[in-house]
Amino acid sequence: MIEIENVSRLYGEVAAVSHVSLDVGQSEIAVIVGTSGSGKTTLLRMVNRLVEPSSGTIRINGRDIRDQPAPALRRGIGYALQGHGLFPHRTVAENIATVPALLGWPQTRIRARVDELLSLFHLDPALFRDRMPYELSGGQSQRVGVARALAAEPPVLLMDEPFGALDPIIREKAQDDLAAIQKRYGTTVMLVTHDMDEALRLGTRIGVMDGGRLVQYDRPQAIIAEPATDFVRSLLGAGERALRLLSLTTIEDILEPGDAPGEPVAAALSLRAALSESLWSRRAALPVEKDGRIIGRITRTALEARAAGPL
Ligand SMILES: Nc1ncnc2c1ncn2[C@@H]1O[C@H](COP(=O)(O)OP(=O)(O)OP(=O)(O)O)[C@@H](O)[C@H]1O
Ligand SMILES: [Mg+2]
Repeated sequence: MIEIENVSRLYGEVAAVSHVSLDVGQSEIAVIVGTSGSGKTTLLRMVNRLVEPSSGTIRINGRDIRDQPAPALRRGIGYALQGHGLFPHRTVAENIATVPALLGWPQTRIRARVDELLSLFHLDPALFRDRMPYELSGGQSQRVGVARALAAEPPVLLMDEPFGALDPIIREKAQDDLAAIQKRYGTTVMLVTHDMDEALRLGTRIGVMDGGRLVQYDRPQAIIAEPATDFVRSLLGAGERALRLLSLTTIEDILEPGDAPGEPVAAALSLRAALSESLWSRRAALPVEKDGRIIGRITRTALEARAAGPL
């Protein structure tokens, strides 16, 4: 379905993506995982020609993506951007309806589809349809961004860290929703994430990027059984080890006095969930809430110290 053949992208001297080849079969979910700056977004954006490769070829359904104008190509490919990228001056409904409107769907069909998607993502259509993006929380914006990408039921869906701003519990729900939607429509998905656990949960195949290179691309079982490099092993190992260590401690054990910006986390949450929230929301400290009030904060430093602590 998607064939990426020896694709590179240079920025000056630096290869953001270097000689990557991979195939994504019909109705597969290929999850690209890797650390920050490893080239994941660049790789994804080459598939819908938001970035042009410096060399190599990409085909969708056997057809070179350069054979048609980029706007026509993009209408057939859903794209959920890193950090949602909603149009700020359009309502939630108008945002979701972007591609159906371009395709000339009748108003009644568009409206039904918008409401269906809002409901699917647990946003009450009556409350959210007419809101503006600035009236949404980060997690709500992100769900609207994913709904927009799905609106026209595209055969191919590209998703760049689509669940990053969701709290860990809603994130799992959103992952389940995506898996159900993907199954229902047979969508071919390429999804980018930092999170190996997410990759293992969702991927039919997982691609691991390191420094612009694809170091392994295989089924989850094979990635776990035979990690191709020490880097892949460390991505897997870090998760398990940290999981064990973090499950030994509760948020209250590392609570500090003081405040922190953004949505609070519940004191009852596991440290593992708190760490992933801190990483995903890119916050060095999180306020902690218990019985409806802020009782202190936890810091990334303290979380990481626990995760790295003695076994
Ligand atoms: N337009 C650009 N101009 C110059 N360098 C760029 C450009 N876009 C990306 N890069 C560089 O290419 C490398 C890969 O970037 P990319 O955004 O693909 O990484 P990523 O894996 O998506 O990272 P993250 O997880 O932080 O989103 C980085 O070193 C980045 O600085
Ligand atoms: Mg990125």
